[in-house]
Amino acid sequence: MKVDGKDIRPIWLDEDEKTVKIIDQRLLPHQFAVEELKTPEDAIRAIRDMYVRGAPLIGVTAAYGVYLAVLQDQDDIYLIDAANRIKAARPTAVNLMWAVDKMMSAVVSADDPAGRIAEAKRTAAGITAFEAENCRMIGVHGLPLIKDISRKKGGGEVNVLTHCNAGWLACVEYGTATAPVYAAAEAGIDVHVWVDETRPLNQGSRLTAWELGKYGIKHTVITDNAGGHLMQHGMVDMVLVGTDRTTYTGDAANKIGTYLKALAARDNNIPFFVALPSSTFDWTIRDGVAGIPIEERDPCEVKYVSGLAGDQLQTVLIPPENSPAANFAFDVTPARLVSGFITERGVCEASEKGIKGLFPEYGS
Ligand code: MRU
Repeated sequence: MKVDGKDIRPIWLDEDEKTVKIIDQRLLPHQFAVEELKTPEDAIRAIRDMYVRGAPLIGVTAAYGVYLAVLQDQDDIYLIDAANRIKAARPTAVNLMWAVDKMMSAVVSADDPAGRIAEAKRTAAGITAFEAENCRMIGVHGLPLIKDISRKKGGGEVNVLTHCNAGWLACVEYGTATAPVYAAAEAGIDVHVWVDETRPLNQGSRLTAWELGKYGIKHTVITDNAGGHLMQHGMVDMVLVGTDRTTYTGDAANKIGTYLKALAARDNNIPFFVALPSSTFDWTIRDGVAGIPIEERDPCEVKYVSGLAGDQLQTVLIPPENSPAANFAFDVTPARLVSGFITERGVCEASEKGIKGLFPEYGS
């Protein structure tokens, strides 16, 4: 996507073909820094410590993590161990496991070292291109939903509420939840986004607001608890979120707090759509609440908040120092609360039948 006139992605392979470069998202929006990954351990740290985050980007970073491992050593035992360590970096986004498995089956199909390196590079680039195109198509398929609301409002402003960051920073291009918003803006639709700040790490107020602002999309940052009030007062036309893992039955895990937005949307008759590429479906889990692993992160992320003080990034403590905190990073919105999924193949109902109708290769 364009930032200040320059095309930029959150990850790319350097010209030396030995270094993967990423935007360090921990520092945005106040500092723009590029970090270099040279080993699989660097990729693991970048995923675990959230230099990169968002399901599709976690997958792409993991793919390049496998590539960096193959550059170091092409032996099966080393590679299987590296792949397992990369997969363990974060538990919820299934794109991580999907990408590593795809990389490993491509790599082991070659039996000489040079062939393995070539296969790893080709496959990581392929996964990157696949995710960029998926998000473009999510925009194409999501646009009619926003167009329809705009038409019903006689061309009046369409208010979309989103949670966390499911934008291009979380993907490669366009984003998932934001792709239809960008497509609507390009189509001349008057669109405005309510951006949940998304505690504790504020991916909404730091990242989504930055992305939308750079693109010139009208947006307003709100507290995580404001959505229900706005919905009751007719100020939200549609909720549009991403997901880290969605079961083949339509239960969608996303950033903590998404479930509460879905409940409020249902109570107020507001459409609640989840946008995702096929790489985010989990074809093995039936019951999302019981089966999707929910990451619990360091409680310090809840207790401390970072921001700009003067011209310095600073971290401050909010609760009493000795108060315990808990940091559940995701929750699961059951399929019954989801109005539909926007995927690269089209929009479907949130049910096994709807999902497998679009992806029949996973059984009927
Ligand atoms: O903890 P994060 O920042 O990785 O969580 C990201 C989200 O919850 C996104 O909404 C999700 O990954 C979808 S990204 C297109």
